[in-house]
Amino acid sequence: MDIYEAITTRRSIREFKEVPVAYEVLEKCIDAARLAPTAMNCQLCEYIIVDDEKLLPQVLDAINTLSGVPRPEGGWSPGRRPGAYIVALINAELEAEIGAGRTNTHYDGGMAMENMVLVALEQGLGSCVMTGIDRGKLRQVLNIADKYEIAMLLALGYPDENPVVEVATGSIKRWVDKKGVRHIPKRKLKDIVHRNKFPV
Ligand SMILES: Cc1cc2nc3c(=O)[nH]c(=O)nc-3n(C[C@H](O)[C@H](O)[C@H](O)COP(=O)(O)O)c2cc1C
Repeated sequence: MDIYEAITTRRSIREFKEVPVAYEVLEKCIDAARLAPTAMNCQLCEYIIVDDEKLLPQVLDAINTLSGVPRPEGGWSPGRRPGAYIVALINAELEAEIGAGRTNTHYDGGMAMENMVLVALEQGLGSCVMTGIDRGKLRQVLNIADKYEIAMLLALGYPDENPVVEVATGSIKRWVDKKGVRHIPKRKLKDIVHRNKFPV
């Protein structure tokens, strides 16, 4: 799979075959994140791999929404849950020490995340980047020290759905068809590219 193919075929996955994900596979994703560009080479992100069977449901419980759907009473439906999580943290203590700008730190986190997503994909994993997290709960569950800001979470597992990308005609609202397939409208290339400068 070349890079362009990976980027164009990747979709966020939220339904998984509930099978374990090997630790080495997850570690390789973080290795890819480690090598992402960072402003001034600051490297302020650290990661927690969660693959413990007892912790997985507790982390899932700290996810507030999946694709905009609020957590149902009693938690997410069993049988299709993520097999692992990677929590991306920002070392805020180090950030202050270095004097790195907060905006750059967040850009860095995004770049690292995309590296992880693509290397996960290459290894057969589906994933979903998540910021809709109950950070207080997650901090407590994973015993995360105050010096870390919880930036994002990546839910991972072997995909059990095939969302499709389509050209947005007006609305970018995601929708699910009668067969349960998720449709993801993306804005047209010509609608977002500007050449040289805007007309006067
Ligand atoms: C910064 C960021 C935060 C996101 N947070 C969530 C989230 O909390 N819950 C969720 O289900 N999806 C989340 N997503 C996934 C987006 O909903 C998804 O990328 C978008 O709908 C486009 O779909 P695609 O990834 O298949 O192209 C997030 C994505 C990004 C980049």
